[in-house]
Amino acid sequence: MTTSTATTSTATTSAAATTSAAAPTTTSPTATPLAAADGPRGRRHLLSSADLSLDQVRAILDTAAEMHGVQRREVKKLPTLRGRTVVNLFFEDSTRTRSSFEIAGKWLSADVINISGKGSSTSKGESLRDTVLTVAAMGVDALVIRHHASGAAHQVSQWVDAHVINAGDGMHEHPTQALLDAYTMERRLGSLEGRHVLIVGDLTHSRVVRSNLITLKTLGARITLVAPPTLMPSGITAWARAEGFDLTHDFDAVLPSADAVMMLRVQRERMSGGFFPTAREYTVGYGLTRPRLDTLVAANPDVVICHPGPMNRGLEIGADAADAAQSLILDQVSAGVAVRMSVLYHLLSGNDDQRRVPRSAWADTSEGRARPAAPRSAGASTAEEGTA
Ligand code: CP
Repeated sequence: MTTSTATTSTATTSAAATTSAAAPTTTSPTATPLAAADGPRGRRHLLSSADLSLDQVRAILDTAAEMHGVQRREVKKLPTLRGRTVVNLFFEDSTRTRSSFEIAGKWLSADVINISGKGSSTSKGESLRDTVLTVAAMGVDALVIRHHASGAAHQVSQWVDAHVINAGDGMHEHPTQALLDAYTMERRLGSLEGRHVLIVGDLTHSRVVRSNLITLKTLGARITLVAPPTLMPSGITAWARAEGFDLTHDFDAVLPSADAVMMLRVQRERMSGGFFPTAREYTVGYGLTRPRLDTLVAANPDVVICHPGPMNRGLEIGADAADAAQSLILDQVSAGVAVRMSVLYHLLSGNDDQRRVPRSAWADTSEGRARPAAPRSAGASTAEEGTA
């Protein structure tokens, strides 16, 4: 994360209240690894996956694993961010990211406000800067921003004193998506170190691929990007050489060696020209069809299938694959809440010991897993994994 100077530490208390604030009494001498370099205005932000070191990724994923248990509780409320205000500022449509940030904030007891481009004063011509400054002037602690312009979240972080979280900026990055993808894959596969992950589809328009490349590389995965030549971004060959990932146009050639296959949405709304002749032709070359699913599972029954959503069923992924036992697509949605709770926690409670709440307040040691699960056969399912 791009962070302020505050060194964070883990607070402990004796009371592990889940529905009312527990006053922290002591702090552990062990600093969490989420304090790093200063942000430009002395605030910590999550703008890019490149902001996160391995220790920081691990801290977020480990906290997410502990917070995931909240989803199974009857009373889904922790006092952690009581008194804090989080604004979701979405200038682009979203189902998963916006609702999971809203749920995450609410389950942590923050006050959460949603503002969308449609219905806000931006439709009357107000600039992004004026909108952001107006919202920030109300005393907001964190801004979660999605915008169609690459770099928008970074720009916003220069204007406000609030913590800024990038919830997707144009074709640039989507760091919390990459974190939840890694979290989901780890829970099924165990450590991603040396695991072969295929990322397939519309690479040119995908912010998910950029953030995933960074986070998966941080976690030691081996990555192959698969796309038709027209959907490979310019300069990707040099990028692949520099960063150590592979490229291919031949999906079928790499399919049998995959531990995980991440299908990307064909982003027709961002396409101005003909990137492929017909939808049918795209599916024949790059869709995760029934025959490809059979090849994949025959080669590796423990393979997992991911898709960040929303899916174009029948285009980049067939219903057989989307709904297969190997599919983690709803697990990704479920993980999105836990990972975003963790990100909000690490950003918002890290520099204020008065607001700290002990891990025991959220950890569900009876069922939750603080570490990646050991590998297991695909098809097995836990109660939690079925929830989304
Ligand atoms: N994956 C993702 O960002 O989905 P939404 O657009 O629904 O938020």
